[in-house]
Amino acid sequence: MMNIDELRSELLERIATTDQPRDILKADEIKQLYSVIPTLDPSERGSHGKAVNELKLALEAAVALREEEMEDGTVESLDVTAPWDINALPPQLLPTEQGTQHPLTTELENVIDIFTRMGFEAIESRQIDDDHHMFGTLNFPENHPARDGYDTFRTEEGFIPPAHTSTMQNRILIDRRAKLEAGGQIAAVSYGRVFRNEDVDATHEHTFYQCEGVFVSKDATLGDLLGTLRNFFEVYYGQKLKIKTQPAYFPFVEPGLEFAIEKPAALGGKPGEWLEMLGCGMIHPNVLTAAGIDPATYRGFAWGGGVERLVMLKYGIEDLRHFESAKLQFLRKFA
Ligand code: DAH
Repeated sequence: MMNIDELRSELLERIATTDQPRDILKADEIKQLYSVIPTLDPSERGSHGKAVNELKLALEAAVALREEEMEDGTVESLDVTAPWDINALPPQLLPTEQGTQHPLTTELENVIDIFTRMGFEAIESRQIDDDHHMFGTLNFPENHPARDGYDTFRTEEGFIPPAHTSTMQNRILIDRRAKLEAGGQIAAVSYGRVFRNEDVDATHEHTFYQCEGVFVSKDATLGDLLGTLRNFFEVYYGQKLKIKTQPAYFPFVEPGLEFAIEKPAALGGKPGEWLEMLGCGMIHPNVLTAAGIDPATYRGFAWGGGVERLVMLKYGIEDLRHFESAKLQFLRKFA
């Protein structure tokens, strides 16, 4: 039998282009929709009848509109962003089964779930911030060349769409300082979009996602940091992993490290093929001090890295640009 949605589009199109719109209401196709009713299984008759009635209402509304339009020669403007079809009476929601959650959203939720189960709270990062949080509180001296490494955009007023989720560290530390002083710990991840003025290619985007963690207590160690990260990666990839670190410079940690995993054979890796996954280290005393936390009493660790990279490895995605391409062929693989 004829697909009612297709028929509806076709008839609406005919109504919009004819000078005799009312004739379309008597189209053979509509008569057929009624004539098949006795042949249907009784259980299907109700929904079929309802769909046919809705079709008729929509067509009648369109005919009325078309007649009005022919009378005064003007077309009423339509809000094409409305979440329903305004040619239909009563308004009908558009079918939601056509959409799916974006794979990055799903994977970010997985990442957050893993850290939440480990006792971290999750806080969404900001999409607009200032120099003080992006650099100042993170121990980047004024005019220090390390600032240039972040390729930041700036608004005319001097605001910054943050180039890393570390921009949240100072706020997280300040807001939870009381908890720390009451004998607790600070354990939080911040996640969200970050922005860099970069040339776009298969491994660089101007807009991407990061996830960052901060942990502060009286006795946090580098071993705790590595254990936390190892656990995260092993849960995320569902297998045991080899890890290694090497020294790296980030003004907000001391020591600072790059954290790498050996590419698992199951994901096409060869032994000795290391992948850098993120930056991390022990929180610099100046960063604690900037949040009013005494570095003589408290110690912390932090890490931060890109989310796309995690997902690309998991699914063998070769080009970062697929994520923002809106290509259905790509998105449907995750549906
Ligand atoms: N914010 C750094 C970046 O985007 C990554 C990073 C490195 C975050 C070390 C950290 C850290 O929290 O401790 O390049």
